[in-house]
Amino acid sequence: MTTDNKVALITGSAKRIGAFTAEYFHSRGYDIILHYRHSGDAAKSLRDCLNASRPHSCIALHADLADPTAWEQLAEQARSWKHRLDLLVNNASSYYPTEFGKTTQAQWNDLFASNAMAPFFLTQALTPLLQQSNGCVVNIVDINADRPLPNYTPYCMAKAALKAMTLSLAQVLAPQVRVNGIAPGAIIWPTHGQTSEADQQALLARTPMQSMGSPEDIARTIYFLAEKAPFITGQIIAVDGGQSLT
Ligand SMILES: NC(=O)c1ccc[n+]([C@@H]2O[C@H](COP(=O)([O-])OP(=O)(O)OC[C@H]3O[C@@H](n4cnc5c(N)ncnc54)[C@H](OP(=O)(O)O)[C@@H]3O)[C@@H](O)[C@H]2O)c1
Repeated sequence: MTTDNKVALITGSAKRIGAFTAEYFHSRGYDIILHYRHSGDAAKSLRDCLNASRPHSCIALHADLADPTAWEQLAEQARSWKHRLDLLVNNASSYYPTEFGKTTQAQWNDLFASNAMAPFFLTQALTPLLQQSNGCVVNIVDINADRPLPNYTPYCMAKAALKAMTLSLAQVLAPQVRVNGIAPGAIIWPTHGQTSEADQQALLARTPMQSMGSPEDIARTIYFLAEKAPFITGQIIAVDGGQSLT
């Protein structure tokens, strides 16, 4: 199958920011490769919804990015869908606290797999396709890559690695492929109750914009980088309501 439409692969796109981004790009004419690990039902339901509005415009691919053999398989399936890729969004991310003194190597490997290692190898595997379309990569980092949280050391280290990857690969892949990043602040609270209501309110109170962002803030910044910024590469844009200034 081939297409005149642009094609985007968004990792971790069954729910939340990834799913919103998939819908945002689909409504602007992109064909979408959704990716999921555990959220198969949500991914398939979103796929069916997007295909109902435009036939053959979406597929959903499964891969556990902690499985070192999964990147190549995901890349191969993405390649063989429409033989085209214009945008890779490395969005999938494991996120949970790890207490120093009790952190296990399994947690370290898991956090680095989705947040740093898979983005690198997926980008490497898909670079030839991105080069053909003068495409771009957008890595979803985190403002806490620069302001590491005390109870999330390996997560913050992994996001710092993703930031370094962005700056390095922007040089490696220019001029054919641009590589940028977005560092969100508070957009959607985590689902596992990692932050208390009081901590959430305190964080918002010291954020200059005094509110959370929305998935649309992230999606439209990805869209800006992909569609409106041909001279921008190697940049990380904080979308955080000014939180990183405080
Ligand atoms: N939410 C925020 O306020 C916030 C703040 C700062 C940065 N960010 C960054 O923005 C991005 C999106 O945030 P979010 O809150 O929407 O993300 P999320 O819901 O925490 O995670 C997105 C998806 O990542 C996938 N994932 C995790 N580990 C994986 C693995 N080993 N293999 C494959 N998929 C894996 C999960 O897919 P399945 O459900 O299919 O398993 C999950 O649905 C992330 O990179 C996050 O670090 C978000």
